[in-house]
Amino acid sequence: MGEIKQKSGDLLTELDNAYKLLRKTQEELIIKEKLSIAGGLAAGVAHELRNSLNIIGISVQYLHDKFNPGDERREFTEAIMNKVEKLNSVTTDLIHFARPQNPRFKKGNIHKILDRTISLVKFKCIVQKVSVVRAYAANLPLIEIDNELMEQVALNLIDNALWAMHEREKLIISTMIFPENYFIEIKFTDTGCGISRKDISRIFDPFFTLRENGTGLGLSIVHRIVEEHKGSIEVESKLKKGTTFKIRLPISQKE
Ligand SMILES: Nc1ncnc2c1ncn2[C@@H]1O[C@H](COP(=O)(O)OP(=O)(O)OP(=O)(O)O)[C@@H](O)[C@H]1O
Ligand SMILES: [Mg+2]
Repeated sequence: MGEIKQKSGDLLTELDNAYKLLRKTQEELIIKEKLSIAGGLAAGVAHELRNSLNIIGISVQYLHDKFNPGDERREFTEAIMNKVEKLNSVTTDLIHFARPQNPRFKKGNIHKILDRTISLVKFKCIVQKVSVVRAYAANLPLIEIDNELMEQVALNLIDNALWAMHEREKLIISTMIFPENYFIEIKFTDTGCGISRKDISRIFDPFFTLRENGTGLGLSIVHRIVEEHKGSIEVESKLKKGTTFKIRLPISQKE
């Protein structure tokens, strides 16, 4: 009797695990589907936008040069040029998102990529008085990655963390190698505003944003790049306490 109970208990646990795996796979498929639909839309919109922005940009630049310094009309044209630039950068985001380049894998140094990305946001960190703490593993091996794409991953995650934090808070970036040596892990832990339970399932959706000037594409780009590297990304968050993004990447891209 006890044996039967034990066996059926085991079977139930197995069934439960299989169900959880199925749920997870289904959720991943839904994310993929959403990404590909949004990708197609984004490509069309981005092209239209870029062409129009080009014409607006050239025309306003022409007008701008006609006005003398001190002329208030020059300020207006300058304001338009700034906005055109902002829209151009959003469009570049969209184009990147819609038509990603194929990753070019090379043996790369994750710490160098992280350092380079941190130096890109150094000024922002100084202004915000945020300290970036590096807790790097001493023995991290080189891994097969696309340097540029991985820099984009780091930049998006750091940018989000800085947005989430107040002054004088802390961002910890740590790396580690798994004992069996097949995977490495990179963690970005901030002490920012955190993400509510309601929102956390949506943060990887394209165009989901709670930021005033956000496009909502950062994390969906991150998600896709990590996937292209056969890696995984997880998020843990506590409202008003902070958020951790955990990325695992295989050392080699070969099966
Ligand atoms: N570290 C974080 N802490 C708290 N909320 C976060 C964090 N990272 C992401 N989020 C939430 O997830 C949303 C989506 O992030 P995502 O990077 O995709 O877009 P975005 O930052 O709003 O815009 P952008 O396209 O400029 O990156 C954010 O608007 C924010 O609400
Ligand atoms: Mg972002």
